[in-house]
Order: sequence, then structure tokens, then C-alpha cells
Amino acid sequence: MSVIHAARAVRAPAKVNLCLEILGRRADGYHELATVFQALDLYDDLQFAPLSSLSLAVDGDAPTTEENLVLRAAQALGRLAPDNGAAVKLCKRIPSGAGLGGGSSDAAATLLALRSLWGVEISDEALVQLAAGLGADVPVFTYSSPAAFARGRGDVITPLPAAAELSFALTVPPFTLPAKTARIFSELRPEEYSDGSRARQLAETMSRGETPHKDHLWNGLFSAACRAFSNLEEYSRALRCASGRAWTLSGAGPTLFHLTAGSEDSRDVVQSVRSLPGTHLAVRSGPSLRSQNLGETE
Ligand code: C5P
Repeated sequence: MSVIHAARAVRAPAKVNLCLEILGRRADGYHELATVFQALDLYDDLQFAPLSSLSLAVDGDAPTTEENLVLRAAQALGRLAPDNGAAVKLCKRIPSGAGLGGGSSDAAATLLALRSLWGVEISDEALVQLAAGLGADVPVFTYSSPAAFARGRGDVITPLPAAAELSFALTVPPFTLPAKTARIFSELRPEEYSDGSRARQLAETMSRGETPHKDHLWNGLFSAACRAFSNLEEYSRALRCASGRAWTLSGAGPTLFHLTAGSEDSRDVVQSVRSLPGTHLAVRSGPSLRSQNLGETE
């Protein structure tokens, strides 16, 4: 008996790493992390319609080939549901390769939507394992909390409750680097490792329902990112000068963010840096991918 499944529409949120510490190098070549992720109200939109084969159409700046984690996620889940396909449409709004987790969030959205569309019987735990195989940042997007403390490769997750709404100014400098994340981790020096206590303190603060503050914000990849992106140090100095504020790198960058006093302050900060090249956005913290309905469109 054939079952007709309705199409699914999903909003996949961006993230920032409020705090990212690198504890050291692991035997498997990855690095041990302690980080706090926060979802943002900046989204890619995805639609999934049932089809006998798999196809991907992209509106915006992302590949339609298997470089795109959406296809890799669909193929990974498809091994458990071999007779299924889907027409996937991705409308890209989160800047790509920027340290905002857009590709990872799209991959998690694909796993969750196709599990539902195809009726795949796979537990949340097994889905997290599948997600971890696609990339270290994918598992966190499969959880229902808007923020999370992550250890291991970034894939051992403790969900955190939503803090009061946070507002940010985001700047995405116009720098690209092939195989960016691997390159930046390879630039790390042992003296840039830390013990994870900043990220742990921030996670404790947020788990008590308290609001993060600027002293919690930190990224242990910043110096390595400045060595890999030759203009990043100068750019971040110019940003500080123009805004009079301190900026923190998100993930492996090159996006820099400032935690503002509210939406109006975010707009003022964005205004103060708009003469610098790149994309400047005022954003707020947002709900998790999981907690936004996986809406049916027919
Ligand atoms: O897992 P993902 O594909 O995002 O990682 C890209 C690269 O970044 C890895 O191949 C590894 O070189 C580096 N990485 C790391 N430690 C992590 C996450 C990523 O060394 N925790």
C-alpha cells in the first residue's frame, strides 16, 4: 500500500558560538572543544516534497552538488529508506562558510524533515549519530533547545534553556578560505588551548536562567583565524575602531559578533560599521530548528 506524504517546510536557524574553547588535540585528529551555541533568528528556508529520486534546487549562495550537506544528509538517511526520494528546495539566507552554522543547520533540517516525510524509524539518539558523521556542528541543531553546551568534537551536547532575548550585531567580512575549518584548526598553537572553564561558567549561568554578559564571550580560534585569514586582524581592529565595541569570532569565522544592549543598540552598532566591506546584520537569539513546527505544506 502506498502512503501519500505531504511536503514539509522547515526554517533552519543560524548559530553563534557565544564561547568557544579548544582544550587540546585528540588521537583521532579532531580537537576537544568546550563551546556554548546559541540559535539566532536568521534562517535558511527548506522545502521537501516526495519524489522517486533525490534533487536539490538552491536559491542563493550554496552548491547544488554533494558538497552541499543537504544532499549528504539525505543520502545518509536514504540508506535506511532506500525506495524514497525528495525534491529539496533551499533558499539560502545565512551567509555560507561564515561560522554561522548554516550548512550544518540545513543538514539537520534535512535529517529531521526526511525522517518525518519518509516515515523512517530511527531514534533521536541514532539520528544524532548520523548527524555527527556529517560534521561536528550538525548534532546540536537536532536538539530542541535554543542553546547548548557542547564538548567532545562539539557533538556531546547538554541542552541549555533559552536566556532572555539576546540581541547582536553581526558582521560577515568578505573573506573566503577553501577547507576553512580544517585550515584554522591546523593553525592552532598549544599555547592557545584553554581548560574549558569559561564555557562551563557560561553554561552554568545560562542553565540558571541568567543572561550571558560580555565577559563570557570568547573564541580560542581567533588568533589561528587571524593567521589563516590574512586580513581578519586588521578588519577586526577597524570594526572595533568604527563601533567602539568589542567583537567576538563565531566558530571558525570569519563572522564577528557583538552582544548589544537590545535591538535598537544592534541597529546603531550596524550603522556605525556599515562603511566596512561585508554584510552587517542586526539579529536576535531565536528558537531551535526542532521547536519550530516541521510544517506540512499540502
Ligand atoms: O566536522 P567538520 O567537517 O565540521 O570539521 C572540519 C575539520 O575541522 C575537521 O576535519 C578537523 O580538521 C577540524 N575540526 C577539529 N576539531 C573539531 C571540529 C573540527 O579539528 N572539534
